[in-house]
Amino acid sequence: MQVIKTKTKLKEELNKLGDQLSLGLVPTMGALHDGHASLIKKAVSENENVIVSIFVNPTQFNNQEDLDKYPKTIDNDIELISDISDRIILFTPEVSEIYPKTVTPKTYDFEGLDKVMEGEFRDDHFNGVGTIVEELFKIVQPNKAYFGEKDFQQLRIIQKLTEIKDIPVEIIGCDIIREEHGLAMSSRNERLSTKMRQKAAFIYDTLKTAKIKFGMENALNVKDWVIDEFKNHDDFELEYFDITDVETLTPMQNKINNVKYRAFIAVYVEDVRLIDNIALN
Ligand code: PAJ
Repeated sequence: MQVIKTKTKLKEELNKLGDQLSLGLVPTMGALHDGHASLIKKAVSENENVIVSIFVNPTQFNNQEDLDKYPKTIDNDIELISDISDRIILFTPEVSEIYPKTVTPKTYDFEGLDKVMEGEFRDDHFNGVGTIVEELFKIVQPNKAYFGEKDFQQLRIIQKLTEIKDIPVEIIGCDIIREEHGLAMSSRNERLSTKMRQKAAFIYDTLKTAKIKFGMENALNVKDWVIDEFKNHDDFELEYFDITDVETLTPMQNKINNVKYRAFIAVYVEDVRLIDNIALN
């Protein structure tokens, strides 16, 4: 597998690939697990050529400590990618390669998608995500790019980014991959104790019950029920639970026929912030 660190070298390699062949891009921040692997496998199955990027993007972190603590496991990452296919190119630039002048995000108008949930609690986060993903699209010019529904709000924002910037790439959303007990896979799960990692299955269990309740009750009742569930559990601190439509991500008022809804949750467990979501209909 080729590992490339500069834009110039990557462009050189991309120029060698046939124009007729489809190119898939999987952007990541490394510390790869089976969730990332599922995106990479899908990209490999749908494209002749695949670029995986590993770049811990400083402009999407609003907390220096979180950035400093971000796990780096490049040797394992290379092994995981090589095991999937040897025709993948890995792009792992340094910060100065992506941000040669200042390490600041651009500002986007995501039409409100960035103002709720993750955006409300993480200032400028989605401007940072937009900045790096737009840059990767510019460098790689993929036909398809793969993003996990684990970060559903991010997926919607990337779709909006391609719309407002008129970028000709197909955005492919991929299913959430879970641990055996149901906890959504995340590099942050490594920071949980073994006991809590198992207990955190409670988050997904709550989402599944919320989905059943959503079929019978109004959204406010479901939300109140979730809030109560977490009040009764000392190990978990609920940051938010919201039911929104999947288009605008605005909190749901009344159920409208043919509109798709999703429930979103953020929870602190042992000081680790976990997010998850579920399709409701
Ligand atoms: P990262 O957290 O490394 O995630 C890379 C991709 O893997 C994202 O699209 C994310 O949704 C997906 N992913 C993570 N865990 C998953 C799981 N359990 N099931 C399915 N997909 C999963 O998200 C980012 O990096 C960054 O914000 C990035 C888009 C790379 C921009 O810096």
